[in-house]
Amino acid sequence: MSDPGFIGVFDSGVGGLSVWREIVCLLPHEDTLYLADQAHVPYGFRALNEVREFSEGITRFLLGQGAKIIVVACNTASAAALHYLRRTFPNVPFVGMEPAIKPAVERTRSGVVGVIATQATFQGELFASLVARYAGDVRVLTQVCPGLVEAVEAGALDTSETEALLRECLTPLIEAGVDQLVLGCTHYPFLRPVIERVVRARVAVIDPAPAVARQTGRVLAQQGLAAKHSSVGHHIFYTSGDAAAFAAMVERLLPLARANAQVRAVRWRVGRLEPGE
Ligand code: DGL
Repeated sequence: MSDPGFIGVFDSGVGGLSVWREIVCLLPHEDTLYLADQAHVPYGFRALNEVREFSEGITRFLLGQGAKIIVVACNTASAAALHYLRRTFPNVPFVGMEPAIKPAVERTRSGVVGVIATQATFQGELFASLVARYAGDVRVLTQVCPGLVEAVEAGALDTSETEALLRECLTPLIEAGVDQLVLGCTHYPFLRPVIERVVRARVAVIDPAPAVARQTGRVLAQQGLAAKHSSVGHHIFYTSGDAAAFAAMVERLLPLARANAQVRAVRWRVGRLEPGE
């Protein structure tokens, strides 16, 4: 029987690799395609309709390369485009990111939880609907952290500048008494050691990536789309930015993926992605 295809995963940049690594750890036989839209990173301060256009172009490209499911490993793109993508491609299964407000509300003892994410993520309807559905009488404090996505993209994971940015954005949340901190941007798990140093043991950090990987596995199983082969998955990474720089970041962020991965360039041409040189 022929294999049903790849898991397509995308983000504005390297952030979605924090989701990719959970998927590959949970589903090691699956083949994956990852696309980093580094020509347009960061997405977080862009208009929602612009992010929606990028997300549609990326989805078309990944489907054209053989994706059987699309994981939108970007909170900003999920907030801007997930409903639209499901409507536009009704036969394609999508898994998206959403800030983990529900577990944070269930676990809080102080009654105050914090969410860090991009401006666009907080502007989307998805975030307002999660708060309306799950917050109850728990206070949900939101915080945009300018510069953090750029720091991760530049590989500045544990520098004094990155720590200073984090202190600036987390201090108001700590002072307001949050005891749960939701990572609402897929770039932030790569900063987790510094985040934990800043908040110390008084605040629990919640990353939804493992839950998103489990959901991906569930959807594949339900739809009969799980890999039929038993060999270790094959992985292709695309970037609309600089392929050599991206390959170096993959090597740094995902040391275990290195042996089995290829990095290729893609280019935007009038709203469409095409293989690049
Ligand atoms: N990693 C993305 C997110 O989850 C994108 C951040 C950005 O490009 O601004 O929101």
